[in-house]
Amino acid sequence: MPTIKEILQTMDYGPAPESTKEANAWLDQHGRRFGLFIDGAWSEAATTFATSNPADGSELAQVTQATGDDVERAVQAARRAQPGWVAMGGHGRAKVMYSLARLLQKHARLFAVLETLDNGKTIRETRDADLPLAARHFYHHAGWAALQSEEFADYRAVGVVGQIVPWNFPLLMLAWKIAPALAAGNTVVFKPAEFTPLTALLFAEICQQAGVPAGVVNIVTGDGAVGEAIVNHPGIDKLAFTGSTEVGRIIRKATAGTGKKLSLELGGKSPFIVFDDADLDAAVEGLVDSIWFNQGQVCCAGSRLLVQESVYDRFIAKVKTRMQNLRVGSPLDKSNDIGALVDPIQQQRIHGLVESARAEGCEIWQPACEAPTAGAWYLPTLITGASTSAAVAQAEIFGPVLVAMSFRTPSEAVQLANNTVYGLAACVWSESISLALDVAPQIKAGVVWINTANQFDAACGFGGYKESGFGREGGKEGMYEYLTPLSEDARPSAPIVAEKGRVKASEEGSPFAIDRTAKLYIGGKQARPDGAYSRAINGANGAFLADVGEGNRKDIRNAVEAAHKASGWSKATAHNRAQVLYYIAENLAIRADEFAQRIAAQTGSKDAAREVAASIERLFYWAAWCDKYDGAAHQPPMHGITVALNEPVGVIGIVCPNENPLLGFISLVAPALALGNRVVAVPSEAAPLSATDLYQVLDTSDLPGGALNIVTGSADELARTLASHGDVDAVWRHDGSAEGCAEVERLSSDSLKRTWVGGAKGRDWFDAKQACGRTVLQHASQVKNVWIPYGV
Ligand code: NAI
Repeated sequence: MPTIKEILQTMDYGPAPESTKEANAWLDQHGRRFGLFIDGAWSEAATTFATSNPADGSELAQVTQATGDDVERAVQAARRAQPGWVAMGGHGRAKVMYSLARLLQKHARLFAVLETLDNGKTIRETRDADLPLAARHFYHHAGWAALQSEEFADYRAVGVVGQIVPWNFPLLMLAWKIAPALAAGNTVVFKPAEFTPLTALLFAEICQQAGVPAGVVNIVTGDGAVGEAIVNHPGIDKLAFTGSTEVGRIIRKATAGTGKKLSLELGGKSPFIVFDDADLDAAVEGLVDSIWFNQGQVCCAGSRLLVQESVYDRFIAKVKTRMQNLRVGSPLDKSNDIGALVDPIQQQRIHGLVESARAEGCEIWQPACEAPTAGAWYLPTLITGASTSAAVAQAEIFGPVLVAMSFRTPSEAVQLANNTVYGLAACVWSESISLALDVAPQIKAGVVWINTANQFDAACGFGGYKESGFGREGGKEGMYEYLTPLSEDARPSAPIVAEKGRVKASEEGSPFAIDRTAKLYIGGKQARPDGAYSRAINGANGAFLADVGEGNRKDIRNAVEAAHKASGWSKATAHNRAQVLYYIAENLAIRADEFAQRIAAQTGSKDAAREVAASIERLFYWAAWCDKYDGAAHQPPMHGITVALNEPVGVIGIVCPNENPLLGFISLVAPALALGNRVVAVPSEAAPLSATDLYQVLDTSDLPGGALNIVTGSADELARTLASHGDVDAVWRHDGSAEGCAEVERLSSDSLKRTWVGGAKGRDWFDAKQACGRTVLQHASQVKNVWIPYGV
């Protein structure tokens, strides 16, 4: 007699195909030719291209390749519609967005089938993940629209937003982009990916039904050239892009110096870490969701499996058994796990990378099953024996390919996890919550899932560290991406020149008079400039005040190295950091008169004493924030919590304003330090002595060496070095140089570091609205969301 297990093993599922009747009827109703959706109306289809079903290669429809003129019309329509959309008020916008959410739910099946046809992903996923999440996004953001006047009272909408998305989650990415933009009062020009435009076009119809006013949502289809036209259009105020890191870099460069706000959600090579105390069977299921969800065409796919050595063989055996049970076949079949890839181009790309691994001697394992012959397919694949530097271990494969490695200790796991240019997501599997919560903050990634994988929710931010991009989607942090602080509008058009008072002819008698050559401040010590050059600093009355070191590339490199070594500052308690900032304030206060004299001598300011007092107050202000910029505990619709942690960005290069040499310096350096960043500061080029005079203050204030490094010299040259340095995580520049700020943004595209630049405008550093607040805190931090399920 066969056992039940044996009977079950011989049983198979019959085909359970989803009907395509409604989706085909919708395509037929449009004659399978689509124009563009601009200003609330459809244009005639002009030059078109085919969009096909990748599961069998059949053509689904012809879609318009938008021209530059089309993009122009779309931007103009969005511009015209924006004031009216804002004027509808939070409740008015919430009603429309609620209606969009309802309509997405009402037509969920049609959307799901259309998405499966156009993309090749399984109906199980479009039906159970893409659609519910897209609807949830509109519901959640309808709420933010309603709460905007209360929760974002000091902000306004950015304006017209250009949004460009990839093909892996066509409708879901649309929802992630359009929902927050609309909630905040922006209007949008949206471009779906050329492989998968259909659900965006169906969404345009939903917009008409929901009463979205004409011009608020504009959908233009086409390839990268259309994306480029959107990126370069001067009428766009903000760009939101999801896609490859390569195109993200191009967009960063193209927008440098334009003042356009930018968020980039880019690639990933996320680790999936399994400790030996993990529930291995649960981890295998998590792995299936992590790397085989959407055929691995997921930016946060857990594509690097790291397993503790003691359970490695056992775990790999379990993975292979599970892979053998994955059902590959028609994406419309409700019981299939693995559908088609988006296009044969992806198939070739994946094949190339896997074969390169085979040539390098890796073991390539695939389950014994057949993929359909027509269309674009790739079997689930496991690669073992790859070196950590192999292409398959470093490049985003964007396919159903898993690369497995082992580790021995938690610290080795962290080191391997972080051994990538990316930083989008990570999974940590361990039954020890203390181990998992110890490891999660050490991983440089925007999302960490503990004992779960690929969970998303509109209330929880999503986005990357390092070359995975910057900006967040979802949650409150995602809303800020679509808002501009009102204080930005209050900024003066140029830096404010201090009102002159009577300047003393010399500083005889001042303690600064004895040593007239200030060195650099690196690693907590004064250091001679590498080039052994100095520059003379003259006062407001033209008289020589002192020499300062002429810092060069080598000095910046030394300073960055010292900053990295001072990682203890980022781990110090918030209380401790606050104490240090208070201590700096205290020591500055003792020498307030000298600092005032120095400011007056350099700038001629008649308000120098006020500047010192404001600097002390500002140190107190940022010290106060150290232990109050708390994260959040979100409660997504899962059994668990998602903890949003505000983490430091890392090493920040700061080019300080020329004006207000003490207050400007402290206003930027103190918040960066307050949140645990380490800083390489370039003080005012014209008046650096207020910063070099701080060396002794810093030495006596318990600030660990390397937490703050000061390099004097040419702002342009030093900013250039900071922006091109691969180990600097962010660069801020606020010295009123439009070209210098543009250059910082341009150069930062190589390692995709974050930037905060002031452009040609000035800032009233005395005005707390312009110089303080959450905007500064956001620049000094990045949000990591840690998902912690419980009761499972
Ligand atoms: P892509 O980055 O080229 O395309 C994404 C979107 O950007 C599309 O809408 C495209 O039309 C648009 N685009 C292309 N060039 C542009 C430009 N110069 N300016 C503005 N917009 C532009 O991604 P692609 O070619 O579809 O996929 C290539 C590889 O990129 C994939 O194999 C994968 O490795 C990676 N990728 C990563 C994604 C992620 O979410 N991390 C998403 C899509 C692709």
